Amino acid sequence: MHLQTIVTDSPIEAAQLLNRGGIVAFPTETVYGLGADVFRPESVAGIFRAKGRPSDNPLIVHLHSPDRIGEVACGLNAHADALIARFFPGPLTVVLKKRSSVPGIVSAGLPTIGVRCPSHPVAAEFLKHCHHPVAAPSANLSGRPSPTDWRTVFHDLGGRIDGLLRGEPSTIGLESTIVDCTVDPPLLLRSGAIGVEALRELVPGLQVATSCKPGEAPKSPGMKYRHYSPEASIVLLDKPPESMPPSPASAWIGLSAPPAGFARTMSCRSSEEYARVLFGFFRACDAEGIDTIYCELPPEEGIGRAIRDRLRKAAGN
Ligand code: TXA
Ligand code: MG
Repeated sequence: MHLQTIVTDSPIEAAQLLNRGGIVAFPTETVYGLGADVFRPESVAGIFRAKGRPSDNPLIVHLHSPDRIGEVACGLNAHADALIARFFPGPLTVVLKKRSSVPGIVSAGLPTIGVRCPSHPVAAEFLKHCHHPVAAPSANLSGRPSPTDWRTVFHDLGGRIDGLLRGEPSTIGLESTIVDCTVDPPLLLRSGAIGVEALRELVPGLQVATSCKPGEAPKSPGMKYRHYSPEASIVLLDKPPESMPPSPASAWIGLSAPPAGFARTMSCRSSEEYARVLFGFFRACDAEGIDTIYCELPPEEGIGRAIRDRLRKAAGN
């Protein structure tokens, strides 16, 4: 596959490429996405090809405004209405009943569909000029950490996609919180910047999906894939190590003061900063040939739950 990837700062030019059937990466506040017109199945198929994404892993549909949800989903209920009213636009995806007019390739054959309205101003401007809602997974090669800046998107997908809309680095750095509102009580499928505590203020009965056991059907198809992985191996720690790392090609990231003896360290002032820099840190470690990344687990509250989830997945747990 070799395409000429047009890199642009213009949301309108990027939208025109997409409206003509192209696949186009764009910034959002969570991570960069790789979009196609939801009603062009051959373009959506191009996303799966460009990423090397398994065809049974559904895509999230991105909308300019919640007013457009009815173009792709139906059967909203009180829980969905409350979450949408409070958290759209923002880093939340709600899973709803899919309209039959949406091609099955978008939802990987599921009768449901995830929808989200990004709050990022460049994403909003881009989506406003797209004729239809935009199906978009994260803009990385499948299995790699999600990209939080445009250069990383170009590194993974340059020459494999039609366009790349450049923006600032993503301010959140981890993928959206996903809540399945087609079940009662609603189910948290993936944690993100909107923590379970904030969700339960609106939906007190919210359940949290447990990762699936071998042979069991996953609640969210993406849960069964190894995700977010750097090439280095990941070691999870509750606190900084007391002794020097066994290999000089080791790195450390966490909330404590940086320990001595590591080739690269990143000490974050808050869980929010930890989330923002984590995937970039993984990528930088890979570029430097780091063989082991020691990651201090943050407290399990707010976005800390999402960081712990991504760290466990990166570690292959
Ligand atoms: O923040 C985000 O959500 C980013 C930006 C680009 O919006 N997108 C993103 O997409 O992370 P992706 O494809 O990398 O992750 C989507 C996840 C997958 O785990 C997928 O299985 C799940 O959402 N998903 C999508 N539709 C679903 C559905 N109908 N039911 C259950 N899970 C669904
Ligand atoms: Mg992804």
